[in-house]
Amino acid sequence: MLTIGTKTEFHKAYIDGAWVETRGRFTVTSPATLEPYAEVADCGPDEARAAADAAVRAFASWSKTTAYERAAILQRWYALIIEHQNQLAEIMAREMGKPVTEGRGEVKYAAAFAQWFAEEAKRAYGEIIPTHDNSKRLLTIKTPVGPAYGITPWNFPAGMITRKAAPALAAGCTFISKPAEQTPITALAIAKLWEEAGGPPGTLQVLPALDPVPVSNVFFADRRIRKVTFTGSTEVGKKLYAQSAATMKRISLELGGHAPYLIFEDADLDKAVADVMACKFRNAGQVCVSTNRIYVADPIYDAFAERLTEKVQNLVVGDPLDEKTRMGPLVDRQGFEKVREHVEDALAKGAVARTGGKPKEGLFYEPTVLTEICDGTRLLVEETFGPVAPLLRFKDETEVVRMANDTPYGLAAYVWTRDVGRAFRVAEALQYGIVGVNDPVPSAPHAPFGGVKDSGIGREGGHEGLSEYLDVRYISMGLP
Ligand code: SIN
Repeated sequence: MLTIGTKTEFHKAYIDGAWVETRGRFTVTSPATLEPYAEVADCGPDEARAAADAAVRAFASWSKTTAYERAAILQRWYALIIEHQNQLAEIMAREMGKPVTEGRGEVKYAAAFAQWFAEEAKRAYGEIIPTHDNSKRLLTIKTPVGPAYGITPWNFPAGMITRKAAPALAAGCTFISKPAEQTPITALAIAKLWEEAGGPPGTLQVLPALDPVPVSNVFFADRRIRKVTFTGSTEVGKKLYAQSAATMKRISLELGGHAPYLIFEDADLDKAVADVMACKFRNAGQVCVSTNRIYVADPIYDAFAERLTEKVQNLVVGDPLDEKTRMGPLVDRQGFEKVREHVEDALAKGAVARTGGKPKEGLFYEPTVLTEICDGTRLLVEETFGPVAPLLRFKDETEVVRMANDTPYGLAAYVWTRDVGRAFRVAEALQYGIVGVNDPVPSAPHAPFGGVKDSGIGREGGHEGLSEYLDVRYISMGLP
């Protein structure tokens, strides 16, 4: 059982199956209290080189295990993550402010990636290709790409680790994790559970670092690291894409979004309001697939705005460790300032705050509903990553699809309608990797998550998620 209170291992890095002290440490601050929560190992190039060597050594044997052997460890990992649901939710509440009730849901989601990929590992089939020449047989096999390096964000400290590490480990790759500097403790706790599940040394390693660049540079320069996976901003993702070219690594990028939510006049208003609440205010809006533009059909706009405002006014904002809390603080000062600036800009350009629109104490921000938003407002083009719901009017389907697609991003979009023809028409016309039709939370471990355009490349989850860690090799066999 993890002893979260003492946090003995959690100030160390996890390298080659050992809990390692580093020369320096950095402080993780709890955004709800602004008090220090933990002191954590601050890794640099030396630790990165040691981890790369260990990942390469471990790959030699891990890649030779059968899918059944790997699945057994992944299944034990799944069970241990579930067993520690409360402790992990509490860590997340302390390190990044997610309410514990929501954190428990994330832990289940995180564990489910271990379970799904344990099973999916057994289905990494190759193919027999019909031959063009009877003296030959043509076939493909799938082999693990090699040691992988993953850079994960703070908004889903558990889910984003397992969404990357579970398919890598299931495929036979080894995985080095560089968690966000705001949330290293969750990552270390998850590695501890991997160790307890019987994960061999060097298969999963965690290197916290206050400055990720010197650590990342070691892995990008190392030809033996064959895969990079990153979730974060489009700006950083583009730099990593360029950086990975020198050693021709496979790369997956899950980047920023600017999700439109289209609510047609045939929507069930109460259900649509409840769905927007779930989509917009989970994790205080700090979600890549959170909606940034809510387009409401003109005839129902006023009624929708009124009902949404009422619901938002009743959101319980406060201590993330309190069972009654539904929304916690923003993760840090930078995130908080962005939300404040976006709302101030919208208000200065004529928007109306139906509720909220102001900072509260510390890093808490009032959940906000904005109407009458003018063109040129920053939050219509930039990702706010906060609890701000901007409502816009539309007249018809053609107009709203055009407005929804008018962005360089293409991660997630949402549609609310009971007209099946329209649901298909609009879902197909939206240029997004994920479309939720009457579904505000479409993510699932067994479905492909990822974007098009500036929202990234590659998919996580589903059988596509496993392919990201597999090379297809073709064998043409002459029959002597
Ligand atoms: C994300 O914000 O990238 C993750 C959201 C999800 O998995 O639903």
